[in-house]
Amino acid sequence: MSADHLLTVSDLNVAYRGISAVTGVGFHVDAGELVGMIGPNGAGKSSTMLALVGAVRSRAAAIEFAGQDIRGLSPERIARAGLALVPEGHNVFSRLSVRENLRLGSTARADRSGLEDDLEWVHSLFPILREFADRPAGLLSGGQQQQLAIGRALLASPRLLALDEPSLGLSPTAVDTVFASIESIRARGTAVLIVEQRAQQTVAAADRSYVLAEGRITMTLTPDDAQDSALLMKAYLGS
Ligand SMILES: Nc1ncnc2c1ncn2[C@@H]1O[C@H](COP(=O)(O)OP(=O)(O)O)[C@@H](O)[C@H]1O
Ligand SMILES: [Mg+2]
Repeated sequence: MSADHLLTVSDLNVAYRGISAVTGVGFHVDAGELVGMIGPNGAGKSSTMLALVGAVRSRAAAIEFAGQDIRGLSPERIARAGLALVPEGHNVFSRLSVRENLRLGSTARADRSGLEDDLEWVHSLFPILREFADRPAGLLSGGQQQQLAIGRALLASPRLLALDEPSLGLSPTAVDTVFASIESIRARGTAVLIVEQRAQQTVAAADRSYVLAEGRITMTLTPDDAQDSALLMKAYLGS
């Protein structure tokens, strides 16, 4: 047991109808860290994230979060334990207002105290969520919906926020907003695990980045490696 890590994953395997998508993946995230996961399409990044929160079936030697074995727990229990995932895509309830979407996030909180402060903080990170509080979420732009999805996850007061390709399909300005918010989230003490296609930016920002290719972790990169474009290229081409 490695109770000193916030999250410990060891020998994680995911298969769909007998075909392996994730093979023997192991990594860790410490409290307050920003950890990246990069790699080409189909590498198994989303499957890994979904397995962590119990949204796809997996086999693992260990998935330990905050000292607890979370293998086999329901997604609700895992959220309540403090692990929140913002999945790929703009996951908002389109017909509900921004305010209602945010309120749903707060239902996964372990305790109610601090909710007002957290809401204030989320509004300061993403001011449009206050401005458009009464608007149906479906009327927001893609970038605004991503801010809402992240804001909703933050209202669960997670110890680890997992983000799956938060910048996918966003305008350059919206991408900057999302990356800036990640710095603030981390500065507030929340650990972040981020899957991203923007390899250079992710490797530069993260304490450590894992490269996933064909379901396996092939490299672990540090911020210094962000300048090494040949290495990043190799990480993607897997040769
Ligand atoms: N629901 C699913 N059913 C069958 N195969 C899937 C499913 N989801 C993902 N896969 C396959 O698993 C592999 C890994 O996919 P994924 O985890 O989405 O990778 P990434 O997020 O790195 O692009 C791919 O070959 C993909 O086609
Ligand atoms: Mg994916």
